[in-house]
Amino acid sequence: MNFGGKVALITGATSGIGEVTATLLARHGAHVLVSGRDQQRGNRVVETIRAAGGSADFLSAALVDAQGCRALAAAASEIAGRVDILINNAAVGTFGRTEKIAETDFDYCYAVNVKAPFYLVGALAPAMAARGDGVIVNVSTMVASFGTAGSAVYASSKAALNHLTKCWAAEYGPRGVRVNAVAPGPTLTDNAVAQFGEDGLAQMMSHAPARRAAAPHEIASAIAFLASDEARFVHGAILPADGGRSAS
Ligand SMILES: NC(=O)c1ccc[n+]([C@@H]2O[C@H](COP(=O)([O-])OP(=O)(O)OC[C@H]3O[C@@H](n4cnc5c(N)ncnc54)[C@H](OP(=O)(O)O)[C@@H]3O)[C@@H](O)[C@H]2O)c1
Repeated sequence: MNFGGKVALITGATSGIGEVTATLLARHGAHVLVSGRDQQRGNRVVETIRAAGGSADFLSAALVDAQGCRALAAAASEIAGRVDILINNAAVGTFGRTEKIAETDFDYCYAVNVKAPFYLVGALAPAMAARGDGVIVNVSTMVASFGTAGSAVYASSKAALNHLTKCWAAEYGPRGVRVNAVAPGPTLTDNAVAQFGEDGLAQMMSHAPARRAAAPHEIASAIAFLASDEARFVHGAILPADGGRSAS
């Protein structure tokens, strides 16, 4: 993989899968725009990338509405001139029994997981299409493709993102912009471990071929593949990176 000369904007890059993806793309030559709300964690990611010889900047953004997305797109274009690769990774999980879900939690989950990618793509894809070159990778989840109790809000928001992936592939692909998604299984990020426990994440995979949860770098490498020219004939795909859980 060679991302030399490319500018990659990665949302939710202040921790977890996004942070590891930012580090990986930077190691392969991308100028990485690390985005999130937490300035301190964002700066730490940037410093780590620079200390390893990579190139990165932090762009603070709270992604819940069109205005915040447009502001991030404008800031990215201002600091780096353009965005070649957009990784829509920031997300929140809302879990629980359907009758217990507060309307505010439903709205917030859909705002971060669906509305924000929608308006970021609207803000950045036209310039990619005008240049005839660009890549978008959406980070989904395995539970968008099968039913699990307690995941209705989160899983359906990611199912919407899966379908947006296909719509955008149809809309922008003919003008040189590839749009795909990675659908991870349970992954050992700090936040996921804090929420479900290592045993809880492993339990979700007890019948999957891999019989274990993923390490964050195993998801980042799938994202990087789709972002790279190695995937140049791949459009509109939802790539499961779930140890085979959704296949069995
Ligand atoms: N970990 C898993 O088991 C798993 C499984 C399947 C799919 N996924 C998907 O993989 C992606 C990354 O997951 P993860 O476990 O690495 O998550 P994580 O560590 O919780 O990171 C989430 C990131 O999103 C950012 N974020 C959250 N709300 C935001 C908002 N309103 N505006 C801007 N940024 C916001 C956070 O940054 P700040 O705190 O700085 O704002 C953080 O960098 C998500 O799309 C998730 O749905 C994860």
